[in-house]
Amino acid sequence: MIINSNAQLAKLQRVGKLVAQALAAMQAHAQPGMTTAELDAFGGQLLNQAGADSAPRHCYNFPGYTCISVNEQAAHGVPGSRVLQKSDLINIDVSAQLDGVFADTGGSFVLMPDMNRDTLKLRLCKAALRARDTGIAAVRVGQRLNKIGRHIECSIRSSGFRNVRTLCGHGTGAALHEEPAIRNYYDRRDTQALQEGQVITIEPFLSTNVGHISPTQDGWTLVGRPSSLFAQFEHTLVVTQDQPLILTLP
Ligand code: CO
Ligand code: CO
Repeated sequence: MIINSNAQLAKLQRVGKLVAQALAAMQAHAQPGMTTAELDAFGGQLLNQAGADSAPRHCYNFPGYTCISVNEQAAHGVPGSRVLQKSDLINIDVSAQLDGVFADTGGSFVLMPDMNRDTLKLRLCKAALRARDTGIAAVRVGQRLNKIGRHIECSIRSSGFRNVRTLCGHGTGAALHEEPAIRNYYDRRDTQALQEGQVITIEPFLSTNVGHISPTQDGWTLVGRPSSLFAQFEHTLVVTQDQPLILTLP
């Protein structure tokens, strides 16, 4: 969406803050021995208490309030009986609808990391965070979408990790997923430029081995073939003449 009033901006700021707070609280709440369903229920309760709807549930009938993807799962992980372990690489993606507007955020972390053994997972998270923030730094009115993709792609390439090109950022605000797709690589044919007040997400996905992912039998969870580790960070933001306004901060 393109924001056209202060009231709209205020609503987006409220839902943006809510999903960011829910993500941070879920990360802090995650413990070895807890199932992903328990962690999801905790997150769902935070959204419900604030009067918000889980966006994946509301929009796609997703069987969970949030997406929780562990280790070999790239994205859209369905919360369930999987028990979290120390050193798991966990991605939580939280998106919600409040007062008719949407915001979307996500992040990866290592649960109680072993600083000696978990270096690959920790480096992957750091590289994904840097790729996202490199993309965000390129966001401004008039910027070509493919230039943002190029910045993200260069950041990922210099990290030595793989870029999962089939997952991308997107417009958001009035719906969870809107046009345009914001690809995490340079696409010569994409000549679209960002507009003032446009609400978008930036969300690169990095992996240790593969650039391709496919759904598992549950129809939702995406994994790499062959197996790989994944990390993603996502913010929802508003395009301005200057630095973008990040909505998904706690
Ligand atoms: Co998301
Ligand atoms: Co998103």
